Amino acid sequence: MKKIVLIGAGGHCKVIIDLIESLKEYEIFGVTDKKKQGTVLNYKIVGDDSKLKKIYESGIHYAFICVGAISDLSIRNSIYSKLKSIGFKLPVLIHKDSIISPYAHAEDGTCIMAGTVINAGAYIAENCIINTGSVVEHDCIVGDNTHISPNVSIGGGTRIGCNTHIGIGSSIVQGINIGNNVTIGAGAVVIGDIPDNVVSVGVPAKIIKVKK
Ligand SMILES: CC(C)(COP(=O)(O)OP(=O)(O)OC[C@H]1O[C@@H](n2cnc3c(N)ncnc32)[C@H](O)[C@@H]1OP(=O)(O)O)[C@@H](O)C(=O)NCCC(=O)NCCS
Repeated sequence: MKKIVLIGAGGHCKVIIDLIESLKEYEIFGVTDKKKQGTVLNYKIVGDDSKLKKIYESGIHYAFICVGAISDLSIRNSIYSKLKSIGFKLPVLIHKDSIISPYAHAEDGTCIMAGTVINAGAYIAENCIINTGSVVEHDCIVGDNTHISPNVSIGGGTRIGCNTHIGIGSSIVQGINIGNNVTIGAGAVVIGDIPDNVVSVGVPAKIIKVKK
């Protein structure tokens, strides 16, 4: 079994632990967290992120980000760069109870949770969360460090940028473009293109804020 260290001891970490245990491919060494101490499920919090270099040097070469950031995806981005600069490998974690077309592809550091369907021709970039029960239809493109929340449906051929969060239970119609650094509110129905750096909510989705 390959040894792996997890970063971030919050709720999302528990779901990642479930996923990793279901794969029977990795042995979880422990979890790092910048504040918390104690344990997450059965695993020890071994210190903060300053320990990561030593952990790597001790022979643990796999890592996974368990910070389920919603409002600030830049946290996941900076941890990703740090892990890569130390030398860690970040695998793609695909829950065995998801349905992924052999013609779909996901890059390093991305997790695909239980109950998800990803259809042919879809491409998911690095460090994304494709959360529980979501559907990414054929030929969609999802950019780096984007979080697709639970129970989101994305129609075929839609492009979603980097550092974007698609809120829980929302529906995105086929063939549109959603920009970088966008937040789509919970339960939204997105029926047209969304530019970079905005928050958009409602049915149909309307822009309520431009981010600084
Ligand atoms: C969109 C969102 C990020 C906005 O959060 P916020 O910046 O704190 O905004 P506020 O709560 O101040 O709401 C601003 C306005 O938008 C409305 N609004 C917020 N979220 C909304 C939503 N999902 N649908 C419709 N209207 C919404 C509020 O009612 C408020 O309206 P008002 O100005 O008329 O009072 C948040 O409400 C949301 O939907 N988050 C998604 C959560 C999620 O997906 N979690 C998944 C966890 S895995």
